[in-house]
Amino acid sequence: MARLSAVAGLVGLLTLQIALAAPTKGDAQQYCPVLYTEPPKNCKPLPESFLTFSSKSPAPPPVDSLVLEYAVEALAVLQDQYFHPDYATWPSAIDWTAAVAGTVIAGMLTTMSKSLVSIQLGGESDWKAKENLISNYYAQLVGSYYGQDVLSIRGQAYDDILWVALGWIEAINFVRTHTELHYPRSGSPEVVPGSGLKNIIDSTPWHGHNWMASFAHRSRIFWNLGARGWETKLCNGGMVWNPRLNPYKNAITNELWVSTSISMYRHFPGDNFTAPWLATAGFPTNDPAHLQAAMEGYQWLIDVNMTNHRGLFVDGYHIDSRRPGNTKCDLRDEMVYTYNQGVLLTGQRGLWTVSGGASFLEEGHVLIQSVIEATGWSLEENKAIDDLKSVPSGRLPPWRGLGRGGIIEEQCDASGTCSQDGQTFKGVFFHHLTSFCAPLDPLRVEKGMKLNKRGYQRIKTAHITACSRYVSWIKHNALAALGTRDDAGRFGMWWGAGIFNAVVTLDNDGINHDAENTTDYRNQGTPEDDTWGGLHRWLPGTGRWSVLDPGTGQKVLGGIKENQDMRDRSEYGEPRQDKRSLQDPNERGRGRTVETQVGGLALLRAYWELSQS
Ligand SMILES: *[C@@H]1O[C@H](CO)[C@@H](O)[C@H](O)[C@H]1NC(C)=O
Ligand SMILES: *[C@@H]1O[C@H](CO)[C@@H](O)[C@H](O)[C@H]1NC(C)=O
Ligand SMILES: *[C@@H]1O[C@H](CO)[C@@H](O)[C@H](O)[C@H]1NC(C)=O
Repeated sequence: MARLSAVAGLVGLLTLQIALAAPTKGDAQQYCPVLYTEPPKNCKPLPESFLTFSSKSPAPPPVDSLVLEYAVEALAVLQDQYFHPDYATWPSAIDWTAAVAGTVIAGMLTTMSKSLVSIQLGGESDWKAKENLISNYYAQLVGSYYGQDVLSIRGQAYDDILWVALGWIEAINFVRTHTELHYPRSGSPEVVPGSGLKNIIDSTPWHGHNWMASFAHRSRIFWNLGARGWETKLCNGGMVWNPRLNPYKNAITNELWVSTSISMYRHFPGDNFTAPWLATAGFPTNDPAHLQAAMEGYQWLIDVNMTNHRGLFVDGYHIDSRRPGNTKCDLRDEMVYTYNQGVLLTGQRGLWTVSGGASFLEEGHVLIQSVIEATGWSLEENKAIDDLKSVPSGRLPPWRGLGRGGIIEEQCDASGTCSQDGQTFKGVFFHHLTSFCAPLDPLRVEKGMKLNKRGYQRIKTAHITACSRYVSWIKHNALAALGTRDDAGRFGMWWGAGIFNAVVTLDNDGINHDAENTTDYRNQGTPEDDTWGGLHRWLPGTGRWSVLDPGTGQKVLGGIKENQDMRDRSEYGEPRQDKRSLQDPNERGRGRTVETQVGGLALLRAYWELSQS
């Protein structure tokens, strides 16, 4: 902790960068920084590879543009089925799942902006049509800015608040990418009277710029609101999840804090909005406060020991109040969710970019590889570790910690018991995996700093090699997920249903749902006990803003009964439902939703993006 407090006092960028490249484990084990002022001494040589085996196999062949088409189709279905322009939102989403939908859509728009030019989509090579396609979804994203229920979100937990900030930074990045690629401005930004039509045309930026300042403003406001969640009286720091419950410092809020802060540092375009009650005018870009928050948050998360024996993030820590005066994070909740393995990746990638510290990238690759292994997939052999053909019909391959048979799975997936929260998680994971594996941009070399070019190249090669190794696992998941779409093209929650032939329940899904110290509060709500908050309970899907179908609430465990009802009805001569839907495990529980569609979209986008580098 000594080093942390030393860092906390620093404000100069240069000093911070040096501190950043400093150890997350111990000085002797530290990689030599790629960026430095003085040639580094006493450091470990940079890694040759981020894989644990030597990868001699050639890079996988480039994938067909069909994958991109499927991804665009997933977006089209998402917006056609779930977005309502009149309400300027996805009415069946809740605030945070809507924020994630917007984030994933902004990412997809960036992908389309980069990819559509070079691809003949269905014979349609007309740029006007492609631009219209992008503008169509962008207009809806802008609509959702105005439909976002900011007053309600202000009163929610810190993770809800941070999803908002992160989402609008993603939108800013899309506007920047699209502008740089297709609308580089030629004229001066000023239009003076009498300068003529050509001058007006030349000086008009891409129309998407109209909302840049609004996006920037909201991301700053919500980052500031989120900052109140950082608390140092307990556990020597860390973000608290929900101010209305007993202090709980969980992985998601802290990962969001790291990733949002470093994204603000890198991409926040400044905010000139000044309210009369604000003394200061303007908020700067590259604010050292954002960098410091990201760094401190990262160090805290690593030090607090939140990973389990599989290398996966568990959910979080309570403070044992039975011990008088206790301030330690000592009651660990062992629950594992997919999204807790994803959000930090954006933070690790960002920290590498600003510091040139290879350990950030390495720790990200270790996390990704832990996830892949826990789905029952061997990266080295490029196949599932369990022979799927030898699994008897009606049974599933064994649970491996975060999936089975090479398919990533939430613990609520196979039984059809996910809440609206749980239905969002896998999409979050793949969105951040995509951002982690995006092609490495050149490091920003500040004045007075030197770049080790050869070292940078080595890291770049190692990064690309590892990321392209993940493609076959992603493909395996994407093919399974594509198999879960219904006639309307809507993705199911449990991707395993696309390749396994079994319908299971909580009792026989192969997962120990009663494991010690494991609380599935995201799907079941927090228990009414002394650890979580006495009589105060938190339930998933609360804070919902509903216009179209008020009061349906959560349908968490209703699946089995519902199917029974359907069967009963058909026995009484009612028109029989599509036979398949009775056997489709993804029709149970909440069924197919805006959240499961976002999951399918994020997965297909990851498949496309990672196979391009
Ligand atoms: C803020 O104002 C400055 C100076 O007028 C300008 O250069 C900058 O582009 C503005 N930023 C935003 C986000 O509007
Ligand atoms: C981290 O936590 C786990 C579970 O509580 C414990 O078994 C392990 O010893 C801890 N590791 C460290 C380094 O404190
Ligand atoms: C459960 O939590 C208690 C209290 O922190 C701890 O002593 C015990 O080792 C934990 N068990 C497991 C399996 O993590």
